[in-house]
Amino acid sequence: FENRRDNIWKYKEFLPVNADNRVSLDEGGTPFCKCEKIGKELGVDLYVKVEGSNPTGSFKDRGMSVGTTKAVDLGVNMVGCASTGNTSASLSAYAARAGLKCAVVLPSGKVALGKLAQAMFHGAKVFAIDGNFDDALKTITELALDGELYLLNSINPFRLEGQKTIGFELVHDLGWESPDRVILPVGNAGNISAIWKGITEFRDAGYIKDTPMMTGIQAVNSAPIANAVKAGEDTVTPVENPDTIATAIRIGAPVSSVKAMRAIKESNGTAETVTDDEILDAQKYLARTEGIGVEPASAASIAGLKKLVENGDVDKGERVVCIVTGHVLKDPNVAIDACEDPTPVSSDPNEIRNVIRTL
Ligand code: F0G
Repeated sequence: FENRRDNIWKYKEFLPVNADNRVSLDEGGTPFCKCEKIGKELGVDLYVKVEGSNPTGSFKDRGMSVGTTKAVDLGVNMVGCASTGNTSASLSAYAARAGLKCAVVLPSGKVALGKLAQAMFHGAKVFAIDGNFDDALKTITELALDGELYLLNSINPFRLEGQKTIGFELVHDLGWESPDRVILPVGNAGNISAIWKGITEFRDAGYIKDTPMMTGIQAVNSAPIANAVKAGEDTVTPVENPDTIATAIRIGAPVSSVKAMRAIKESNGTAETVTDDEILDAQKYLARTEGIGVEPASAASIAGLKKLVENGDVDKGERVVCIVTGHVLKDPNVAIDACEDPTPVSSDPNEIRNVIRTL
């Protein structure tokens, strides 16, 4: 392979599309930050994979690069998705790059501002549905089955093929070793399935021997998979009316729940729930302790790690990789609401001096 900082196409031998015709915005090769301070406090060897550094600010770009490459290969002219925000932001940009028309269906009033702005600004036709993400996915799927558009939600296997490169990269980042555990937020459950696929492909290719325990975190009122895992059940019962401040993972009927359950089981992993308050605390903690700004859903991975450590489910000294999935600016309202307003001052520097000396 070439340098790990190169984009996802450094792994083109593992991607089942024609890389010569790739639709790419140089996605992947994201920062991999060791978090000494939080790691020390929690008693683990902690690394964070910063997916907010992708072109549109979330991990979705990896999947959309491969997904739109396939769309172009198939000769379609219209792509579409349902989304809690990031998928639509990413698809809208990649569709523009590829010269494809794009339609997205969003849950009205429940999409963070940055994501909505991106989807609109890159030129998708944006529809707001009076319902949640699960309703939006049903509607756009009907249009896809009627042949109106090529669906690029994570039910499309080419999306997962792109996102499995997170699994490749984190092994590469660690110098061709597996961590003990990978922790990530789970919504529609595509990403945990994709990362596990990448990890097992690298194991089967002989690049690593061990595999990490795949650990999914959900918001307490949007937790069909974590509920099933904690109850020791194999089947996932959908949650009616899912709700959380982490709108990215406000999903009641994950489309990849079977694959996700398999990933958790095969990897000897687990799942946990966190409250909105725990998510917001973790978001601020990561931003102010390590300088890494993430959106609320992404902070669920840190909140989940903290809880698993407290419960004794994570062993001391474990090497843990948390996937932080989207950038803090995706949801500026949550970030602003979490802080005090700027202090008004005159142009007299003494006013500032008096305050900063008390910090
Ligand atoms: N984190 C962020 C920031 C997300 O946007 C999503 C999913 C997830 C985590 C969960 O990933 O669905 O593969 O389990 N967002 C989708 C969207 C649903 O429409 O943008 P998942």
